[in-house]
Amino acid sequence: MNASDHAEKTTDVQQEKPAPAGAVTGREQRPSNTGSTKADSASRMSLQEAIAYLETQIARVEEMQQKHIARLERIIEVSRILNSNLNLQALLEDIISIATELTNTEASSILLVDKKTGELHFEAATGVKKHEVATEVVPPHSVAGWVVRENTPLVIDDVSQDPRWSRKIDDATGFTTRSILGVPLRVKDRVIGVLEVLNKINDEPFTEDDVQTLCVLADQAAVAIENARLFQQSDLISEVVHELRTPLTSIRGYSQLLLSDIKPELKRQFAETINREAIRLGQLVNDFLELARLESGRAHIAQDPVDLRQVIEEAVSIIRPQAAERDITVNVDLPEDIPTVIGDAARLKQVLLNLASNAVKYNKDGGRVDVSLTVDKDRVTIAVKDTGRGIAPEDLPHVFEKFYRVVDSEQEAVGTGLGLSIAKQIVESHGGEIWVKSEVGVGSTFAFTLPVAQKTKPGQR
Ligand SMILES: Nc1ncnc2c1ncn2[C@@H]1O[C@H](COP(=O)(O)OP(=O)(O)OP(=O)(O)O)[C@@H](O)[C@H]1O
Ligand SMILES: [Mg+2]
Repeated sequence: MNASDHAEKTTDVQQEKPAPAGAVTGREQRPSNTGSTKADSASRMSLQEAIAYLETQIARVEEMQQKHIARLERIIEVSRILNSNLNLQALLEDIISIATELTNTEASSILLVDKKTGELHFEAATGVKKHEVATEVVPPHSVAGWVVRENTPLVIDDVSQDPRWSRKIDDATGFTTRSILGVPLRVKDRVIGVLEVLNKINDEPFTEDDVQTLCVLADQAAVAIENARLFQQSDLISEVVHELRTPLTSIRGYSQLLLSDIKPELKRQFAETINREAIRLGQLVNDFLELARLESGRAHIAQDPVDLRQVIEEAVSIIRPQAAERDITVNVDLPEDIPTVIGDAARLKQVLLNLASNAVKYNKDGGRVDVSLTVDKDRVTIAVKDTGRGIAPEDLPHVFEKFYRVVDSEQEAVGTGLGLSIAKQIVESHGGEIWVKSEVGVGSTFAFTLPVAQKTKPGQR
């Protein structure tokens, strides 16, 4: 042990303060002193200063640790709150208010990735009502877009200096963003969205602890969001149960009548009704299962070369008898050369069958249905045109939704309102698009595209 070490030790004793653990290490790491009195005093001074400095540092670290522990405790509590909230919108609002509280910021927002389109949308923001949240797509080159893509937190202490930031949202909300911390919302390895907090109170910079805290909150929040979404989907189950009740009630009623003392000719009529409703019930269950499988991505979509001519002709031949009954002409116009598409022939036939049967069901007696196929470079477009009553502009955006039926369709034809949503899922699972154009009193055209199979060049497999 050399002189300087001894001197420093004495200083500690004289001050009658226990040497903090960190201070001892610090001292041992200092270069040795040569031992002159002047140097000793200088070193004592600086030592005192160093100790004072270290003590304030330690106090600070302890304070930070306490804050950190308090935050973690709050997060555990929060996790309980979040997981008990199954209403998605209420949950998102809880998350943003907790995020601002934990990070000591002015505002927060949540953006979620649309599972089907991959687009990013604002879902909730501090002080903004659900219907006021901007509906437009948040571009990939934005702050949130970056966080999703890189799957990494991002701190921007001065947004005006960062090209990823855009003042568009501020202009719309009247809020002034100065700084942003954004973290990915992750479920397993999938990024489902972004949680952002804006403007530290007092304009302090974001700390490492803020980043960590928000990441921990985001992990809890992401799981809770997924659960709430799953629960929302099970709303679909209650809708289905509702739909199943109608034919069931009818079957129960008529079967009871059958068991009572009734005329033989009525018996046959009731038995026919029961049979029809039972078929409808079976159809409904099948449609629902098919839709559930397609939506969840669990459906196995075949990847075989498909002969579209055959698919179209088969589907049309099924609806011809119904069309003939009502004097509806069905015309099919196909080019000589139809390129092969890759996909699931049975499911594509299902799409055609639904479009063609709608075109007959919702047509006028003596009307006309035109089925056509056109070929572009890299895709084919199949269209089914009818001369029916058409669809009003306010109903048009909804016809591909589950269970959506235009009012008065019920009197016109039986259906469950699942056909078009199934068709949409199938077309999209083949990489295509489906749309409708319609004019009330004139007719409707439903059309969809399918990508053409890439020709393999000779020598390529
Ligand atoms: N070609 C059409 N002309 C006019 N309205 C149509 C046409 N196709 C569909 N619609 C409207 O859109 C609604 C939804 O169609 P969709 O095929 O999904 O269900 P649906 O035919 O009622 O029942 P299903 O599940 O048996 O197909 C229909 O109820 C009808 O109101
Ligand atoms: Mg239909």
